[in-house]
Amino acid sequence: MKKLMIALITLAFTSTSSIAGPKIEVLHWWTSGGEAAALKVLKDDFAANGGEWMDMPVTGGGGDAANVALKARIVAGDPPSASQIKGPTIQEYDQEGVVAPYNIDAIAQSEGWDKLLDPMIAAVHKCENNSGPYCAAPVNIHRIDWMWANKAVFDANGISVPTTWDEVNAAAEKLKAAGIIPFAHGGQAWQDATVFEAVAMGIGGNNYYKNCYVDLKESCLRSETTVKVFDQMRKLQSYTDEGSPGRDWNVATGMVIEGKAGFQIMGDWAKGEFTAAGKVPGVDYYCAPTPSNNGYLYNVDSFIFYKTSDPEKQEGQKLLAKLMMGKNFQKVFNLYKGSIPARLDVPMDEFDKCAKTSNSDIKTAGASGGLVPSFAHGMAQGNTMKAALQDIITEHFNSDMSSVDAANALADSVLANM
Ligand code: BGC
Repeated sequence: MKKLMIALITLAFTSTSSIAGPKIEVLHWWTSGGEAAALKVLKDDFAANGGEWMDMPVTGGGGDAANVALKARIVAGDPPSASQIKGPTIQEYDQEGVVAPYNIDAIAQSEGWDKLLDPMIAAVHKCENNSGPYCAAPVNIHRIDWMWANKAVFDANGISVPTTWDEVNAAAEKLKAAGIIPFAHGGQAWQDATVFEAVAMGIGGNNYYKNCYVDLKESCLRSETTVKVFDQMRKLQSYTDEGSPGRDWNVATGMVIEGKAGFQIMGDWAKGEFTAAGKVPGVDYYCAPTPSNNGYLYNVDSFIFYKTSDPEKQEGQKLLAKLMMGKNFQKVFNLYKGSIPARLDVPMDEFDKCAKTSNSDIKTAGASGGLVPSFAHGMAQGNTMKAALQDIITEHFNSDMSSVDAANALADSVLANM
């Protein structure tokens, strides 16, 4: 009997320790072709290191649906072990007491993240109002203010890459006259806001953008400049096709890839779709920053880690954080994703010309006051204020609301949510 007991205890002990390994449940919204190819790099790395990955994808570009699903799990007291997250929302969840910083900070300290990241990007990922321990990890820097154009379509119609918004409109008019859909757009609120912020930075300038969409100044929101921004949005809306409402962003990118439309205005995750389709910049398509005065709208994809009492998940969190900030991972992942590495020491020689442009423009913008956070992608504002801006932008885009009414509605919406 005693022998049997010892045998059972030994068996129980060995089997528990042999199944123990890092585990992670990851909530994210990377479901398009390019996004899934990039995420696979991380999943494969995690598995190669003995980890078990439980996937929780929530479809919907821009992450609005994923953020709702995440919030519901947090409110229910059942957060995933890790999730995709953006800038200020990291602090919001920290203040709710659900974030597990100390696991990640130990990795960050031993791997020297402070030396590997720009101090501004590093601070975004530190809990306790950006100055405490690391509680999230960045994987990339996406640029928002891009135009993606089909080269054959532009060339055949004698169009060169526009450098002013008037040239954008002239190019669109030319395409329209030639019977080609000028502007591939998906009419979803977040896509409308993505286009809007590129137009706002371009037409209003970098200081206008900061005053209105970072500092939320009422006089700026109601200004004549905001009216001009809405005027340009109305023009762009007239260059979309009838199928635009509700269309997913990657379907719109597909229209440009196939030459059914001239161009799309979208962050450089769109490049991930061109890459997945085997297309080469300068050969099959043009990538060009939308017109601005050396502006650069940045958007960092990060992952945050939530409190858990499960030791396997704690191990999974540490492993994931370590892998995400790995030098080779940040190269390979970003080659697929369309973005550039968040780590400063990753060589850019294997990246294409769009990524190289992004990498040099971010430095120019940083030095000249043009580096501004995207509000449409949650870098400038938390989710509530982002929605307050997005709601009016999309309402204007999908109705015949005047630009003056839209500028006033934007200011009212912001004030009501302060
Ligand atoms: C994310 C990107 C993602 C895009 C479309 C953005 O908010 O930063 O990683 O590819 O949404 O889903």
